[in-house]
Amino acid sequence: MNVLVTGGAGYIGSHAVKRLHGDGHRVVVIDNLVRGHRAAVPDGVTFVELDLRQTEAVTDVLREHGVECVMHFAALAYVGESVEQPLRYYDNNVGGSMSLLRAIDAAGVKRMVFSSTCATYGEPAPEHMPMNESLPQQPINPYGWSKLMTERALIDYAVATPDFAFVAHRYFNVAGSAADGSIGEDHRPETHLIPILLQAALGQREHVTVFGDDYPTPDGTCIRDYIHVEDLIDAHVVAMDALNDTGTTGGDSGGGGRFFNLGIGRGYSVREVIDAAKRVTGVDFAVKDGARRAGDPPQLFADPSKIKRELGWSATYTDIESMIETAWKWFQAHPKGYVDDA
Ligand SMILES: NC(=O)c1ccc[n+]([C@@H]2O[C@H](COP(=O)([O-])OP(=O)(O)OC[C@H]3O[C@@H](n4cnc5c(N)ncnc54)[C@H](O)[C@@H]3O)[C@@H](O)[C@H]2O)c1
Repeated sequence: MNVLVTGGAGYIGSHAVKRLHGDGHRVVVIDNLVRGHRAAVPDGVTFVELDLRQTEAVTDVLREHGVECVMHFAALAYVGESVEQPLRYYDNNVGGSMSLLRAIDAAGVKRMVFSSTCATYGEPAPEHMPMNESLPQQPINPYGWSKLMTERALIDYAVATPDFAFVAHRYFNVAGSAADGSIGEDHRPETHLIPILLQAALGQREHVTVFGDDYPTPDGTCIRDYIHVEDLIDAHVVAMDALNDTGTTGGDSGGGGRFFNLGIGRGYSVREVIDAAKRVTGVDFAVKDGARRAGDPPQLFADPSKIKRELGWSATYTDIESMIETAWKWFQAHPKGYVDDA
């Protein structure tokens, strides 16, 4: 199949490119490199440096490569930055997605898998754990809203376009690297817990700060659901295949749209992840206690039973240590990230 991967030079998108390319699909990447790395895209994959908001140029790429399915990862994805720069987030994430949909419409592409997020649910109460897809969506920051607005536009477009079908995956915390250590996580700035711990283990950070140890959880630190990036991408491939099989039927949204929460179905506390990273790396890096951050719910973990029931997918990595091991392999081989490969 001919697949466009938007954001294919980023952390998750590059793992999708690797998998799809390895499976024999013809892959084209669009990425403006605002956050991605050219070196994350393998040789043999067409790379187009382009901003998604350039609708005509995106349409040309779709037509030229006969694209049959779009995997749409491209976005700005820092919660804190979205609070400080809301217009940039709406412009890039909503504007970029609307531009992509206009191009999809013009080129007649019929399938899309969209990267949404558990941030669209906001701060569900502890009694709503594990979180299923029917929870009310009440984002608490512009990042979450930008994804929810895009979900809404996808629903409405699919209702108006009966032969267009999509899957929106709502991710929890994505972790780990390709098992062969060839590509990995290199966000700049890095805000994700596991890379920060591994940078501390490499001596690149003096200490790690735990944001709040007085939450109503067993050890007082926040609990999150971590899903390995290769499992996450597998769920995208399964979704793409389901879109081929079912065409426009079977949607949740009145049109051809389906929504799935992607996690492993259990949470790990910040303290548990720190301990696991120390065991994997063998380094007893310094940890300091800090204040809570605004908008950090005590617990967020997924109920992934819907995707198991409907698409037969479940995660293969279910313990945090094995996820961290893959990330550690990448960090040891690329201590400065993709700078090494430039
Ligand atoms: N990392 C996580 O734990 C997580 C959790 C939930 C959802 N997500 C979603 O998954 C997707 C990928 O996340 P990631 O961690 O790989 O982020 P990333 O920053 O590594 O990748 C995003 C890529 O999109 C590109 N991009 C951004 N705006 C663009 C535009 N207008 N035009 C073209 N390219 C553009 C960036 O250059 C980058 O390469 C995002 O949509 C994010 O919201 C990630």
